Amino acid sequence: MTEWIPDARELADLELLLSGAFAPLTGFLSTEVAHGVVEHGRLPDGTPWPDPIMLALPREIRPDEIRPGDRVTLRDPEGAAVAVLTVRELDDDGHGGCHVAGPVEALDAPVYGPFARLRRTPAEVRKELPEGEILAVTMRGPLDGTALEDVAATAEELDAAIVLMPLVFGEGGPAVVRAALKAAERLPGSMVVAVPLAPREDAEIDLELREHVARNYGATEHYAGPAPIAIPGPPHRRGLVVFFTGLSGSGKSTIARGLRDALLERGGRTITYLDGDVVRRMLSAGLTFSREDRDRNIRRIGFVAAEVARHGGLAVCAPIAPYAATREEVRAMVEEVGADFLLVHVATPLEECERRDRKGLYAKARAGLIPEFTGISDPYEEPDDADLVIDTTGISVERAVGTVLGALTSGGWIR
Ligand code: ADX
Repeated sequence: MTEWIPDARELADLELLLSGAFAPLTGFLSTEVAHGVVEHGRLPDGTPWPDPIMLALPREIRPDEIRPGDRVTLRDPEGAAVAVLTVRELDDDGHGGCHVAGPVEALDAPVYGPFARLRRTPAEVRKELPEGEILAVTMRGPLDGTALEDVAATAEELDAAIVLMPLVFGEGGPAVVRAALKAAERLPGSMVVAVPLAPREDAEIDLELREHVARNYGATEHYAGPAPIAIPGPPHRRGLVVFFTGLSGSGKSTIARGLRDALLERGGRTITYLDGDVVRRMLSAGLTFSREDRDRNIRRIGFVAAEVARHGGLAVCAPIAPYAATREEVRAMVEEVGADFLLVHVATPLEECERRDRKGLYAKARAGLIPEFTGISDPYEEPDDADLVIDTTGISVERAVGTVLGALTSGGWIR
């Protein structure tokens, strides 16, 4: 049976489809139905619905591997089978990929992601709500004093019970849950229900969707909490990943070590240095230099670096990372946690790397003793998205390190 792990947004939508929070929707929409939603804001039977809820077929599954009528298992990242989707349609998404449409049925209750205790279904919540008016407050950020007064006054006027609904998706989730719990202390008798509703780009659609969800939870009135004031924090407090890429012998490790030392001398930031060769011995022991294994290696580095950056740390990585798509994945992983990513291409030409040949590997590769050697018998895709390019031919280590430090200073990451 085919199975895969939908991405974070799709999983959030899936949870809402399964819980009934997206009623009357019971599954992912086909392109045709989605088109009607976008054009007219309605489902085929005329019911208003604001947003096309769709599911992409992951690239690693070929469209001819599944057919209408098939049942596929959708899993969360921890491996729990969350739902079975009965495939109704497979549609071209116009970008070389596919959308899968069909109804979903719940398997295990979703446990993945924080706040399971607060992520309750509409049916559970409705059972507990009193008769009469219900005021749902959807929150993406804290309620300030004025908003709190507004909510309290509205509830009193309507004689309504209050349900505070922190919309938990992504990095902001914990903060908004804390804000809701705090608001609940000031609004006696209110209930807190966390809802994994990912924000929609279009503010109007976002609001409409919040209204639909609130109504499904039993609300007779909806109060949209103020949008969070997006303050990403100054760069010197944000997490940062400095990712060096380049051929073996290009000077990546040397510059990376110099950078680490310079940063440690200055102080003010915590540093994690993930050297390519060290990672290969620890995190990636046993991996080969096939494309699959190189990609695995880089994803592992990216995962650790993103965790470091999530907590505001500065990670310095220096693998070859020959493939553009995988480097982009790492950039996305880091940006997803609200941190910054700086790609430094150490662009020392192959001839110079080979002339240095510090580890004697190029000679071996030329002699055919090391297969799939980057630059000799294996590809290196030059970045076209590097934030900094350094050719170390004829320049000192100090100067190369100084260039990176200069970029970190002018970007505000160090002071
Ligand atoms: S990557 O391609 O997966 O990013 P990584 O940076 O971890 O490579 O490892 C590169 C180091 O492994 C090189 O500096 C070199 O010392 C060694 N090495 C051994 N075999 C190969 C190979 N076939 N291609 C490139 N580097 C190799």
